[in-house]
Amino acid sequence: MLMHEFPEGFLWGAATSAYQIEGAWNEDGKGESVWDRYAHAPGRVNRGDTGDITCDHYHRMPADVALMKELGLKAYRFSIAWTRVLPDGAGPVNPKGLDFYDRLVDALCEAGIAPNATLDHWDFPQALQERGGWESRDSVFWFADYARIAFERLGDRVAMWATHNEPFVVASGYGNGPFAPGLADSAAGYRAVHSLNMAHGAAVEAFRAGGPTGSYPGRIGIVLDLHHIVPASGSEEDALACARALDHAQNVFLYPIFRGEYPASLMEWLGPLAPEIREGDLELIARPIDFLGMNHYFTQETRYSCRGGLFKLEQSFRSEPGMGTTDIGWGVNPGGISAVLSRIAPIVGDTPIYISENGCAMRDEPDSSGFVTDRGRVNYLRRHLIELREAIEAGAGVRGFFAWSLMDNFEWSYGYEPRFGLVRVDYPTEVRTPKLSARWYSDVIADNGLPE
Ligand code: FCB
Repeated sequence: MLMHEFPEGFLWGAATSAYQIEGAWNEDGKGESVWDRYAHAPGRVNRGDTGDITCDHYHRMPADVALMKELGLKAYRFSIAWTRVLPDGAGPVNPKGLDFYDRLVDALCEAGIAPNATLDHWDFPQALQERGGWESRDSVFWFADYARIAFERLGDRVAMWATHNEPFVVASGYGNGPFAPGLADSAAGYRAVHSLNMAHGAAVEAFRAGGPTGSYPGRIGIVLDLHHIVPASGSEEDALACARALDHAQNVFLYPIFRGEYPASLMEWLGPLAPEIREGDLELIARPIDFLGMNHYFTQETRYSCRGGLFKLEQSFRSEPGMGTTDIGWGVNPGGISAVLSRIAPIVGDTPIYISENGCAMRDEPDSSGFVTDRGRVNYLRRHLIELREAIEAGAGVRGFFAWSLMDNFEWSYGYEPRFGLVRVDYPTEVRTPKLSARWYSDVIADNGLPE
């Protein structure tokens, strides 16, 4: 019996990103991205793994789309590699690169799967990095030009566009995180934040302007990583540290996009490290969007610590009792998803929300046929979906859910060790085998809900 039914028309999908699945890193005229450079540098990625070949999706795209159809996906969220389209980031277009996405979008449409394209899923052109990267205000124009090219070629068929995926993580690669381009300069991180925000606004503006044959039929938004961040205790110090963590990771994008202003408390805290904001910048960032993509994986406790860097805080994962952690130590707390939806409701108003990523790394053990009975992943997704369904019933404007990920792939600095896929990928042979979770998810989609 169906106990957890979702609203009619709820959009069920799965997500991937270009660098994580495509491979063919230097084929058919593709240029080098910051992730190619970063993964090729010694000591950056676990075990020296790179995305050079990964799932070889670039060569296996038709079969992968057939698999999506078999699973019954209604939508597929992928990203476009900027350097496939524009090898140097700006300048001449690489027709073969653009053709690949054209074929992908056609194949999806033919399979009845709505294409959901992300323009920036972290693989920024290396040539533009050398011209200042996201720290330079020129990046706003570079990104808008690239976006325009993608809209003009694919905009007649792509149903949903996202400008950036998790710009917080991109900025972390400048500020302090284990991500490309691998800098460690807090002020640079904030300059990147401001350019990323403006580039988002400029791409939205280009989309609204339409193409040579008129306006685009799809919708445009942005994908943010919105985890649940809570104070570690009832102390005032921890509450303040938690507020700073939320400002730093989430409000620094949510406020300018939805309210046309940066969080005042954050700007005050940053003082001279704050980015330069010029007249007109905030208006550009706040161009209305059609949806917000929310990636959600975990809950973090935040505590005050004078050793805790710029923000004087430290964070650790919190799990619901009995739920444990995932294979990479992320805490499992399904209630976090509804807590975040409540927190952001007053900020985003009635903007439709899509859960653009949710899923987990689990220690998968394939049997001799390659099948994985991943009950832990089913349980993770099931518990999050039940929470989500309750949040929707309580009024949250969530219109769709994208599982991360369609298939196992290159998990950034962790390399290939963690597996997030609904479908197992045996890397030496590139054989794809749907796991138990994929079969289970197919049923959820077919039933538009979950059994008790
Ligand atoms: C998110 C990323 C995605 C994937 C998942 C596990 O932060 O957007 O590419 O790596 O985490």
